[in-house]
Amino acid sequence: MRISVIGCGYLGAVHAASMAKLGHEVIGIDVDERKISELQAGRAPFFEPGLPELLTEVQETGRLSFSTNMADAEGARVHFVCVGTPQRKGENAADLTYVDAAFNELFPYLNEGDIAVGKSTVPVGTAARLADLAADKAPGAVLAWNPEFLREGHAVKDTLTPDRFVYGIPAGPAGEAATAALDEVYATPLADGTPRLVVDYATAELVKTAANSFLATKISFINAMAEVCEATGADVTALADAIGMDERIGRKFLNAGVGFGGGCLPKDIRAFMARAGELGADQALTFLREVDAINMRRRTRVVELTRELCSGSLIGKRITVLGAAFKPESDDVRDSPALSVAAQLQLQGATVTVTDPEALANAKVRFPELAYEPETKTALARAHALVLLTEWKEYRELDPAAVGNLVDDKNILDGRNVLNPTAWRDAGWHYKGIGRQ
Ligand code: UGA
Repeated sequence: MRISVIGCGYLGAVHAASMAKLGHEVIGIDVDERKISELQAGRAPFFEPGLPELLTEVQETGRLSFSTNMADAEGARVHFVCVGTPQRKGENAADLTYVDAAFNELFPYLNEGDIAVGKSTVPVGTAARLADLAADKAPGAVLAWNPEFLREGHAVKDTLTPDRFVYGIPAGPAGEAATAALDEVYATPLADGTPRLVVDYATAELVKTAANSFLATKISFINAMAEVCEATGADVTALADAIGMDERIGRKFLNAGVGFGGGCLPKDIRAFMARAGELGADQALTFLREVDAINMRRRTRVVELTRELCSGSLIGKRITVLGAAFKPESDDVRDSPALSVAAQLQLQGATVTVTDPEALANAKVRFPELAYEPETKTALARAHALVLLTEWKEYRELDPAAVGNLVDDKNILDGRNVLNPTAWRDAGWHYKGIGRQ
């Protein structure tokens, strides 16, 4: 099938390459010329494990091409819109400028029977509004909403073998046509048993925001428990292990630490609250305000714990922050808790060096005032305290004895609870975790 993918960021670039892998002929379109020329050359414009290999593999088949010209979308039967919906400046609501622009620019190129599919995370009601516009501007086409659940760092696998597909479609024959087309797009994973749910537009939009809200709530729940553990001397990691053994609760996303960040969970819960307010249902989501507040409190707490590690004062202390990305296996620093803590430590008088295997270039753009060092060993040298904030494998596997020979003072704050406290203490370190003694 001929497919167009509008927007070639994390979501779109991975989606375009994955659709080509599934055997389709794909054109990826983006207004960013730099991104498109990278992709045309078979290079991923961001760090995502497995994507460079996938790009090379599918480009050799000739099924994947890229363009900056929307007119090149014409002739495809299914068009996926994968542009971003960031938080609006100074507000909680989502900024739909890119979604609206993408659909409006696409409409003139849609032919009879084409399916325009939104994949971006949008406030509930957006698909119905765009469907009205499509009825006017591209009357022969059908609009569907097919939310994406991929995680950065696992994007290729999550796209090729997702947990489920959700199709939001209109009622009647138009909806049936959209379902048939999407079934053809996803024929391979569907044949392998991936479940698919066919629902109305509003439900499809809400599935995505509800899923991210639930994940954020789970993380903030365990971080709230960490606060209680800190007040009582209990251990939040053991607590998470124990409650996680109940299948109804589950252990995943119960890792206490510096909290969640990134380009999705923080802005999605805020946009959801804003949308609920517009719909007169704000009371239903006031708990998300607390979820957000618990999450933000973790960052302040980590700064406080670092101060305690440094005998009560950060002034003049050399602190090495391990990790800049919002999570491992990613170079994304959007709303990264690690960088936000690093900046706070520096503001409060510490001399901060940040290291990360992949995210330093992006980090420098966000926080040019911080010092960055790509070599872990050099970054660790002569530090008065280490603060682990992104749990890259390399940091989880640090040898306490070897690191002890590099630093000036053996103080470590494990902001993700991924190190073995006993091993570090046995090597003479003053170890602090989150929500654990
Ligand atoms: C999230 C969702 O997990 C995806 O399903 C969704 O498709 C995506 O947003 C999106 O909306 O596009 P992502 O932002 O890539 O994916 O990252 P997550 O793996 O969800 O992690 C988010 C944050 O939570 C990270 O900062 C991570 O360190 C933190 N986290 C995660 C914790 O603090 N504790 C945990 O137990 C798990």
